[in-house]
Amino acid sequence: MPYSQNYDVLIIGSGGAGLSLALKLANHSMRIAVLSKFALTAGSTYYAQGGISAVFGADDSIESHIEDTLDAGAGLCDPEIVRLTVTHGKSSIDWLREQGVVFTEEQTASGEIKLHLNKEGGHSHRRIVHTADATGKAVSLSLIERAREHVNIELFEHHNVVELITSAKDAGKRILGAYVLDSKRQQVKTIAARAVVLATGGASKAYLYSTNPQSATGDGIALAWRAGCRVSNMEFMQFHPTCLYHPHAQSFLISEAVRGEGGKLILPDGSSFMHHFDSREELAPRDIVARAIDHEMKKRGIDCVYLDISHKPEQFIREHFPTIYQQCLEFDIDITKQPIPVVPAAHYTCGGVLTDSYARTDIANLYAIGEVACTGLHGANRMASNSLLECLVFAERASEDILQKLPGILPPPPIPDWDESQVSDSDEEVVVSHNWDELRRFMWDYVGIVRTDKRLSRAMSRVELLKKEIAEYYSNFRVTSDLLELRNLVIAAELIIRCAQQRKESRGLHYTLDYPHTDNSKPAQNTVLTPGTTNHR
Ligand code: FAD
Ligand code: SIN
Repeated sequence: MPYSQNYDVLIIGSGGAGLSLALKLANHSMRIAVLSKFALTAGSTYYAQGGISAVFGADDSIESHIEDTLDAGAGLCDPEIVRLTVTHGKSSIDWLREQGVVFTEEQTASGEIKLHLNKEGGHSHRRIVHTADATGKAVSLSLIERAREHVNIELFEHHNVVELITSAKDAGKRILGAYVLDSKRQQVKTIAARAVVLATGGASKAYLYSTNPQSATGDGIALAWRAGCRVSNMEFMQFHPTCLYHPHAQSFLISEAVRGEGGKLILPDGSSFMHHFDSREELAPRDIVARAIDHEMKKRGIDCVYLDISHKPEQFIREHFPTIYQQCLEFDIDITKQPIPVVPAAHYTCGGVLTDSYARTDIANLYAIGEVACTGLHGANRMASNSLLECLVFAERASEDILQKLPGILPPPPIPDWDESQVSDSDEEVVVSHNWDELRRFMWDYVGIVRTDKRLSRAMSRVELLKKEIAEYYSNFRVTSDLLELRNLVIAAELIIRCAQQRKESRGLHYTLDYPHTDNSKPAQNTVLTPGTTNHR
């Protein structure tokens, strides 16, 4: 039997963005539902390593953090959003500490206890607050614990949003709730809410090799797009330079903090190469380092390059990188003695659902926060550790807007139940797994670190075919979690390709052999796609 539930605020996603927002709203007597399509720890937040950027260093300044962020963003950051985010760095860290997150500290020569600050690519100062090399785990577990304690927050695991529900197009479209697959019961229910927040993370699983967990299938971007929201800057998919290369390792990141502490990138013969590409060498922004590695791998026909930190004292390595040390040891790589085989992998979605400075989307009372959103902070390339900061700052901004607006939002009118009368159980699950593999492979081969017009149009033809096949499958069979993810991923892939096709230049993370230079003849423009149109700028 279909059933429905009512909440004041429905938050889709239990990562850093979603849970921070839930906790910020929870003391204001309202009913909040937080959904995760798998376990509560399923998102990228739990896996974050390096940390959270914030200005704490005596020699550092807000202006310097702003300048570095703008520099990495290659002319496309929104300077006001950058300032807004960066100025909330310290208060965001203080708030996390109030929630129980314990960050790594150090004792200064004068005996003072201070936060230990990491250094990462693009940052001109040490400004990464962290919990050893497992910052995300510390943040995630504390936020989940706080949320579990709160009577106003209901947490739903294994609840996968099928579709957003909105009012009719005219008369000011507003959000009414969502149809949600309860995967354990295999039942689609209706959740009505006065405000809905997308906090669903990114789309890096559109690629064969990714540092992201399974959840990163671009669901929020596809849901918002189908509901009628604009999407922006999807061509700027970030490839992290150093993912562990090992036949049995899946998606294990070697943090940029390893390079921050002196790790050198080397070729199989032991020679370094980053000085040929950028004066900042290993600490150049990610797009530059990932492209340099890709270039060396293709030129030499090698499967990986190596990251060597073994010149540092063993105790230092074990203390600073306990998770990486342990994980590599399980693959018989002792990082205190030998270099780590690494390759670039899809890591972060800089584009997403277009929002304003309060996380508002094009649909009334629908918000987007965290990696799913395109706020203008990252521009053409996100600087390391600015993402968790963005999650926290925009959770705060959305909470301010929701608190102010909610008293004036009427409860949604009655919503029809999800209709399964025309569908049956699938007898061909292989279609889903086959299409999933095919999609991720052609995205890797044709829409990866280096692109061309020809490769993009090849990828687009395949997307069109897959979309048709998936639409047919979706209308004939009962929904499953895998089918929902594939349906969303193909939309995310399409949006990445469409944005990439529009950018007739190379900028930040978007590099194409057909237009290898940045077009400085006119002001830099964001790529904005509007549903139902083909002309997008
Ligand atoms: P996530 O944490 O990804 O959470 C998404 C949530 O949405 C999950 O709960 C998921 O289950 C849910 N969800 C998705 N789709 C649906 C659906 N259809 N229905 C219901 N629920 C759904 N950034 C930094 O700033 N510093 C770092 O050190 C850092 N290290 C990283 C290391 C790794 C390995 C990775 C992968 C990323 C790293 N990043 C880092 C990036 C950062 O972790 C992410 O950008 C950030 O955590 C995203 O948070 P989020 O809350 O937006 O989404
Ligand atoms: C890392 O630790 O290298 C990841 C940092 C980030 O993606 O911001």
